[in-house]
Amino acid sequence: MEKRIIAATKNKNKVREFKEILPDYDIITQEEAGIDVDVVEDGKTFAENAMKKAQAIFDMTHIPALADDSGLEIFALGGEPGVYSARYGGEGLDDAGRTALVLEKMKGIDDDALRGAQFVCAIAFVTEDKTYTAQGIVEGILTHEPRGENGFGYDPIFYVPEAEKTTAEMTSAEKNAISHRGRALRNLAEQL
Ligand code: IMP
Repeated sequence: MEKRIIAATKNKNKVREFKEILPDYDIITQEEAGIDVDVVEDGKTFAENAMKKAQAIFDMTHIPALADDSGLEIFALGGEPGVYSARYGGEGLDDAGRTALVLEKMKGIDDDALRGAQFVCAIAFVTEDKTYTAQGIVEGILTHEPRGENGFGYDPIFYVPEAEKTTAEMTSAEKNAISHRGRALRNLAEQL
């Protein structure tokens, strides 16, 4: 198997985590390959979107393409923001704005037992002769205020009880060891 992989994403944090979790592969970015496209993520599931992104970038480059579609599912909000995690609340919000929106929506739900959520990651890896898929999940509890400076997205409000930290308070190695993306990518690596 050729070790060069193109990451079908423009999200630098995802690329960094791909590289950390799959150190045996030469992971190049869309930018390095000179590709400037945003694949429309209009699928109803993480798996559908991941497949769409990986297939589109593979078709353009013929380099084995790795895509992740991921997000936060909050049980008390019926699975919101789910596949809309990156654009929850509209395009005008940044990561801090989206975490603030989640905390606002969770106002009045004070019992930790009702503040459960999970990060979900679907991976698709499209190569010339085969397509691979994998999934990873990590469960946590939403905090009442942001904590920690590391990671990205909803990490500052996602508390993992076993680690007694939010994913933003973890080092990269700690987060990768338990995260939805770490789990999904290690599952993929086992299949390769
Ligand atoms: P997409 O997969 O590019 O559509 O976007 C995923 C979105 O889900 C990100 O922009 C974050 O808001 C959120 N997300 C996914 N993985 C993580 C994570 O590891 N930590 C925090 N937020 C995440």
